[in-house]
Amino acid sequence: MARPDSSAVSVLPWPRQLDVGGGSLQLLSSRFETSYEQTSSPRINSAVERFATEVAQLTGLPQVTEDAGVTLRISCEAAGADYPALDEDESYWLVVDDAGIYIDAACDRGVLHGLTTLTQIVSTAGVIPYVAIDDAPRFAWRGLLLDVARHFLDTQALSRTLQGMALCKLNVLHLHLSDDQGFRFPCTSYPKLASATTYSAADLSALVEEAAFFGIRVVPEIDMPGHVSSWLAAYPQWGSQASGESRRFGPHEACLDPTNEDVYTAIGCLFDELADIFPDECLHLGGDEVNPKWWSEAPAIAEFMDANQIADVVGLQAYFNQRVGDLLAARGKTVVAWDEVLQPSLNPDWIVQCWRGATTRDRARANGNRTLVSAHYYLDLNYPVDVHYGFDPLASQTDLVAREDALLDDPRFSHVAAGMRWASQWRQGAIQLASAANSGPVLGGEACLWGELVDSEVLDVRLWSRLPAVAERLWSPAECEDPDELHGRLEHYLTQLHPLRGFDLQARSRAQLHKAGVEDAWLPLIDMLEPVKWYGRLLGEVALQARISGERIPQARPYDADTPLTTIADYLAPESHLARQVDALCAALLDEPGAERAMTELEKLATGWISLHPAAAAPAPLAELAAACGELGRLVIERLQGVPAPQTKAQLAEITAPRGELMVAVGPLLHRWLTESDD
Ligand code: ACM
Repeated sequence: MARPDSSAVSVLPWPRQLDVGGGSLQLLSSRFETSYEQTSSPRINSAVERFATEVAQLTGLPQVTEDAGVTLRISCEAAGADYPALDEDESYWLVVDDAGIYIDAACDRGVLHGLTTLTQIVSTAGVIPYVAIDDAPRFAWRGLLLDVARHFLDTQALSRTLQGMALCKLNVLHLHLSDDQGFRFPCTSYPKLASATTYSAADLSALVEEAAFFGIRVVPEIDMPGHVSSWLAAYPQWGSQASGESRRFGPHEACLDPTNEDVYTAIGCLFDELADIFPDECLHLGGDEVNPKWWSEAPAIAEFMDANQIADVVGLQAYFNQRVGDLLAARGKTVVAWDEVLQPSLNPDWIVQCWRGATTRDRARANGNRTLVSAHYYLDLNYPVDVHYGFDPLASQTDLVAREDALLDDPRFSHVAAGMRWASQWRQGAIQLASAANSGPVLGGEACLWGELVDSEVLDVRLWSRLPAVAERLWSPAECEDPDELHGRLEHYLTQLHPLRGFDLQARSRAQLHKAGVEDAWLPLIDMLEPVKWYGRLLGEVALQARISGERIPQARPYDADTPLTTIADYLAPESHLARQVDALCAALLDEPGAERAMTELEKLATGWISLHPAAAAPAPLAELAAACGELGRLVIERLQGVPAPQTKAQLAEITAPRGELMVAVGPLLHRWLTESDD
């Protein structure tokens, strides 16, 4: 079956083809009688050991017994190179039948994926159903961007992330190493560049080695010519103005001076040192959000543009891109850059990473460039799973635009919809691909977790509740599109499998919430809350209102790079699990009004919300949120009793309005059930 059926087995990402047979193997121990056909490799041996250890953890079955163990035959045509390539063959066959387990792959990365899938289908009772799985990724580039510049993410956090990425078959870790607030690459030629807290060269080499062992590439990004306040704090002579401070979040004006030859000399040295540590064929040079103000204001730059027949600042950035692109080409690297570099003169060899909405992908493709899609996979926006899952990297532009528009009417985003509408400016220059004739291929995509509100402590809770859904979008067939079905597998994944790699999101979030002053008595309320969406937290109320009303947006923000991330909003999962369960009950009631079990369970929950009474010592917005949750409970009870509620929409808007950085989570089906009449 190409469509998932989690009632049979729960694999995530769902394989290209999976058939469940009529029987199963019963493990008596977690020892496997392993044999290797054709070739083996240290990576395969280590993955087999990890598999056996994880089966022991999952089932509690001992690893060494008198039992001969189930047969595990591994056939691998060739061990891959030490460092993975972009076009690696990651396909595998996995067969479980009465003869045992058989994995067949062209390359050892396929074997690793086969073992990962196998781990996922072993039940806690040690039963492995008979299956025949023919699997390969839909996209070759399945990435995660971590922004280690805004906040330093320690090496344990990165190593843990690699383990989790391997479990959901992601294969690129994109490290955003520099930005206005931090520079995390230890450049020996220009030692003042690196921030006080940074990685050592040995840290980064160890990370690359560990990643490669999992079949994961590490692509470094050094963002230029904008986002460089941290560079200019150390080497002000590389900008045409002084940049001042660099701890503030939000857009900065700082920009490298593209007319200064010393800038290219320094970048060349930086590329040499990066290439020594990162063997990947690609290097990302940013290119996003360049504010041309400094360039427009400098007489020397105007003279340079005249002398070189550069018409405008757009042409000047193209000139800069060409210079740094040549430096990378001379080092044998392929350039990746954000979609702002898109201009007709753009080198078609560059890979363009599209982040500005639904239309830049097709502009890049029409230019003949290979593209990566990230626009709808920004995990820092605190969106729920179904939103990210719904955007397919190959969907038509019409479909993507319609989905973006639908978010504006989604009650979960009504508190920021006016701000989200601001992004429609990116649709200028939209293009429909008339034919595939000169269109560049979509290589895949990346989930992005921008780091303004992410440090090592909160990373796991911010990342993992949604990342496996994006991983599935990038690996599995497009027909895997039912978010309700996905939720079942995601739940299994996060509660059963993820802990095998050292994650326990629920326990982590709970412990952190306790540290933030949340008492157990408040957990029924906390479980109905979510952090505000989109850039609501980062902008803060004043800047958010300015953005919504189209006024000039003030620079002041509630956070800078030194603000501790220790509030309830930092520790709370982006999507309320309980709100999703409530939505499932409402789905049952919308399907069958009066469905008894759903009515009983909803009534119980709603009664609980009404009896949440604020404690004087509760942290600031909780009392108000408890009152809002109580209002929600009353609406639910009235609806269950069939009392018409003509003001429900307005009341819901009031209930879900943010209080501080938190809001009561009301899913789309609860919203629909409360506002739709029965007839
Ligand atoms: C970006 O989000 N500025 C790439």
